[in-house]
Amino acid sequence: MKMILPIKILLFIILAYFVYSFAIYNQVMHTEVARKSISPLAVKGKDVFQKFNCISCHQIYGLGGYIGPDLTNTISEKGEAYAEAFLRNGSLRMPNFNLNDTQVEALIEMLKAVDSSGSFPAKDFDVSWYGTIQKKEKE
Ligand code: HEC
Repeated sequence: MKMILPIKILLFIILAYFVYSFAIYNQVMHTEVARKSISPLAVKGKDVFQKFNCISCHQIYGLGGYIGPDLTNTISEKGEAYAEAFLRNGSLRMPNFNLNDTQVEALIEMLKAVDSSGSFPAKDFDVSWYGTIQKKEKE
């Protein structure tokens, strides 16, 4: 009979684990970002981005190399034409990769998708009591 209490405690811990997991995964599945699908052209852009190893110099969502700027919000902050100028010509510090029209188009589409799915630096986030982050509601 004395063993009942430890068993109850163990069951409580196991139950708490499942409730906690459910809360976390339920939260992640319902964020705006998780539901947004990415267009095939943007996926192609990702392939071009990987092929030319853009991440060696640039960051996306703050991760990557540090020779060039973070590209997460280039489209909304500086515009498509501005980004396209760099993709087509390079600059003194960025090489010209001689990309063709399709590759440039795909890269712009990928940068748009990245832009719409995050911001860098990540400000305006609330941390919930169970450890996930949530974008602050716009006032
Ligand atoms: C050798 C390092 C290097 C590589 C590789 C590189 N870039 Fe850059 N990129 C730079 C630098 C440095 C700048 C800033 C240039 C300047 O201001 O003159 C830049 C600027 C840019 C900009 C303008 C961003 C802004 O906010 O000003 C875009 C867009 C861009 N690069 C996209 C790309 C893409 C896409 C690739 C891959 C095809 C790539 N870069 C590969 C170094 C690189």
